[in-house]
Amino acid sequence: RKKTTIASLLASRSSGTPITVVTAYDYPTALTLSSSSCPIDMTLVGDSLAQTALGLPSTTSLTLDEMIHHAKAVARGTTTPFLVVDMPFGSFHISEEQAARNACRLVQEAGIDAVKLEGGREIAPIVRKLTSIGIPVMAHVGLLPQRHVAMSGYRVQGKDVAGAERIWGDALALQEAGAFSMVIEAVPTPLAKYMTENLDIPTIGIGAGPYTNGQVLVWDDLLTTTPSDHKPKFVRRFADVRSLREKAIAAYSTAVKDRSFPHEIDESYKMDKSEWEKFM
Ligand code: KIV
Ligand code: NA
Repeated sequence: RKKTTIASLLASRSSGTPITVVTAYDYPTALTLSSSSCPIDMTLVGDSLAQTALGLPSTTSLTLDEMIHHAKAVARGTTTPFLVVDMPFGSFHISEEQAARNACRLVQEAGIDAVKLEGGREIAPIVRKLTSIGIPVMAHVGLLPQRHVAMSGYRVQGKDVAGAERIWGDALALQEAGAFSMVIEAVPTPLAKYMTENLDIPTIGIGAGPYTNGQVLVWDDLLTTTPSDHKPKFVRRFADVRSLREKAIAAYSTAVKDRSFPHEIDESYKMDKSEWEKFM
């Protein structure tokens, strides 16, 4: 299996082969997504890192330095997937210069392939700037978690004609600015389908229905790693890792407390009797 490239993503789009994307925040996860037995096209170090791995209340408190720390670990374990990293809140909005400086840090220090930027037409000049200096940009439209306060929560976007027109206009502006691909988050299926059919770049959906060119899910959502009663409608639980982990830790605890672990011979080191006698 070859390394995913922008050209191979475009080829998947043309041939109608769905593109698979999963988030990762550390080295072992990156290894899994790179493994030949479950090959994934693209690994995303999403700023969902804030909640999933760092226990922060939202993505807006994640810093660029924290993102670089995790992106480095993911990069060390990534082979074939195209490696994309979210630019955190506040790390690209201030100016084109700030965005370029911080995107260069991500490329240089973490060794990632591309950056993802949340936002609409207002960030098109920033997308153009990064693209012009050779840093591929993935756009992200629809629900923008970095703006959850301004949007009054995490809600489906583009349900009315004004919202749909705004998202479509944003998508066109971002494609025009040079984005190589686009995440579409939490929009009605017909809008995501229309966007996919009328854009020239691959669309990657999350909560955007089955007609986008690819799908992305958060690692912790698809594996169920974390206690959570709330399951967003668009999440499917492909495994219950949380209960598997809890069972294993409970078994370990019991074994230590009842002294059945470690086994005296199979799980312990021995010493020659003569050496032991000299020691004594
Ligand atoms: O941060 C993230 O995990 C994301 C994906 C859900 C697209 O942006
Ligand atoms: Na994100």
